[in-house]
Amino acid sequence: MSPQTQQSPIIVLDSGLGGLTVVRALRAALPNERIVYFGDTARLPYGSKTAATVATFVRQIIAHLSPLGPKHVVIACNTATALALPEVRKEFPHLAISGVIEPGARAAAEAAGAKHRPRIGVIATEATVNSKAYERAIHRRRSHARLLLRPAPLLVPIIEEGRTAADPLVRLALRQYLQPLIDRGLDVLVLGCTHYPILKEEIKAIVGDSVRVIDSAEQCADDVARRLAERGLLSPAADTDSDDAGSLQCFVTDDPDRFARLGSRFLGMPMEVPTLVSPDDLYTTSGTAPVVRVAG
Ligand code: DGL
Repeated sequence: MSPQTQQSPIIVLDSGLGGLTVVRALRAALPNERIVYFGDTARLPYGSKTAATVATFVRQIIAHLSPLGPKHVVIACNTATALALPEVRKEFPHLAISGVIEPGARAAAEAAGAKHRPRIGVIATEATVNSKAYERAIHRRRSHARLLLRPAPLLVPIIEEGRTAADPLVRLALRQYLQPLIDRGLDVLVLGCTHYPILKEEIKAIVGDSVRVIDSAEQCADDVARRLAERGLLSPAADTDSDDAGSLQCFVTDDPDRFARLGSRFLGMPMEVPTLVSPDDLYTTSGTAPVVRVAG
């Protein structure tokens, strides 16, 4: 295992395109960092899977990329953070691993201001909502907050399909998911899935100016910057020793061309076609045999 230095990469992982919203925020905050992104596109969505399955996927990805000697691993997926973060931290004690939920919950608690019983809404995948991870993280900071949690399972597939906020189907889905929260009165809304920030402006327009919208991707990037600064591992501003400073290298488990085409929208800039990693190779790296369920 190579030693962790300022030049070591930051690994960012998600089930698909969503974590690129975290990469975008990271690149804005830390433009000199070398980022390695992993999108598990063959096995998306994570949000409708069980904790055991998602933890296996996350463990495999980290095992596959850990030979790169990352100085930090970001689980840029709320679902994977909720279902797998404590477990993989225990399994990879030599790696610094963080997720998206704590930073999002911290920002939501702060945004609620001085109100005694603020109403904090969270939209997320079914798995994230069922995990109660946001409930715990927000209530630890604001025990009187009234939480309104809403699974929004259609949003990840329609975003991965490349539909934009201008699409009537996207607007209809957003309205369906948000209206019940708006009707109960909201002070703060957390975008509890890293796919959702791509629709942030439309979501803001629907909930109105009086509701603070928390982007878990931006909060996550700030949190990573703080953690690296504390450990003295930020990449120096003008790092002439490393050609990789500011680079982004992507891996996906399916359809790299499609990922590059749709991913540039998430990144806000053109991106190179990622390298394909077969899911079979991930099972080999982690030593876990694939489980085949045979019906009948
Ligand atoms: N982007 C992931 C999250 O933040 C969810 C995507 C999925 O369901 O795979 O929860």
